[in-house]
Amino acid sequence: MKLSQTVFAERRQRLMQKMTANSLAIIPAAQMQKRNSDVEYPFRQDSDFYYLTGFDEPEAVLLLLPGRETGETVLFCRDRDPLMEIWNGYRAGPQGVVSDYGMAEGHPVDEIDDRLPAMLNGIERIYYAIGQDEQLDQQIRHWLNLIRGQARQGAVAPTELVMLDHLLHEMRLFKTPEEQELMRRAGEISAWGHVRAMQSCRPGMYEYQLEAEILHCFMQNGCRQPAYSSIVGGGANACVLHYIENSAPLLDGDLVLIDAGCELDYYAGDITRTFPVSGTFSTEQAALYNLVLKAQLHCIEMIRPGVLWNAVHEASVQVLTEGLVELGLLQGEVADLIEQGAYRDFYMHRVGHWLGMDVHDVGDYKVEGEWRPLEPGMVMTVEPGLYVAADNTNVEPRWRGIGIRIEDDVLITANGCEVLTSAVPKQIDEIEALMANR
Ligand code: GLY
Ligand code: MN
Ligand code: MN
Repeated sequence: MKLSQTVFAERRQRLMQKMTANSLAIIPAAQMQKRNSDVEYPFRQDSDFYYLTGFDEPEAVLLLLPGRETGETVLFCRDRDPLMEIWNGYRAGPQGVVSDYGMAEGHPVDEIDDRLPAMLNGIERIYYAIGQDEQLDQQIRHWLNLIRGQARQGAVAPTELVMLDHLLHEMRLFKTPEEQELMRRAGEISAWGHVRAMQSCRPGMYEYQLEAEILHCFMQNGCRQPAYSSIVGGGANACVLHYIENSAPLLDGDLVLIDAGCELDYYAGDITRTFPVSGTFSTEQAALYNLVLKAQLHCIEMIRPGVLWNAVHEASVQVLTEGLVELGLLQGEVADLIEQGAYRDFYMHRVGHWLGMDVHDVGDYKVEGEWRPLEPGMVMTVEPGLYVAADNTNVEPRWRGIGIRIEDDVLITANGCEVLTSAVPKQIDEIEALMANR
């Protein structure tokens, strides 16, 4: 299901069309991260770099030089090395990036200091995300100083440094049909993981055992890594928003909140479901759950092109606050409670975020100071929640320690939206029916 090289080539072309003449973009690969002595964390390529290359090796730098007669794309990469390849696996090498990755030129990354100053000579503007790669920041300063030092010999140093992120992240925000297809699949596999967790949950199991069920499903379907550390929180652990210890036993009578999504070929799924460990919701759990579900369905219903990003969040606040008053967890006029932010004791995060190669994906939420309208091709999550702290003495004891979130991924379409993660149930009767057949 990997994207073809023509997709990456087309992205490079589109980015170069947005760049000015006589300019150069520099995009570095991610670096290996040490875990302990000879062990490294699994390598995950930088999303921007991968978006433009499909190349998943570390120690690489992509250059884009629109209009350059001898070739517009240059990739510096690790050289071939038979001995290292016996230990650590295949490297494409400078020839491989030309033949297999569509680059005009490939060079060993060891030569970058020798080659870059000459390539920068005469360039007016550099596009580069300064501040993200300290080593490369220093190298660029060094190259610029070298050219400036040769001014009397006629060298002309660039005069403008432009943050590349903005151009590139605007492209990444809008998913093309082939990206949408990948995200549909990532949503589906993520959903299967949640179904598996519901089917295998038993009182007395540990949170990490449910996590294992989910990861098993992801990996069986070709996703070696989740898109982020899975959250499996039983009982009041669900009220810790980024709880990833996943170490407690799951108790009969508690809910369990699972926030987990796979990463499929660099695209994320992001789903939360909350269900009863026993298979049956209590009265209080069901009341709060149905309120969160009402807010989530209402938000999904309103999502279509033209709706402002923040309007969806505001709608979730409205529905949740009304419901909290009805249930007696808040007292007062709904409008006043919203004005005062009283709901924040129970709902302390936003309704969602952009989703794509990064789970909290790139792209601006405001344009020229105004909340941005939704447009076809954007993908976002819709994830309202309610969390009643175990020590919240402002509410009756029966509500305390219940945490609920319901999260789906939606693609904005021409007329509305498509839910990419509908393969896992969220209505109470559907969940209870699924769990009754364990
Ligand atoms: N899984 C992180 C989030 O939902 O934002
Ligand atoms: Mn999530
Ligand atoms: Mn999310």
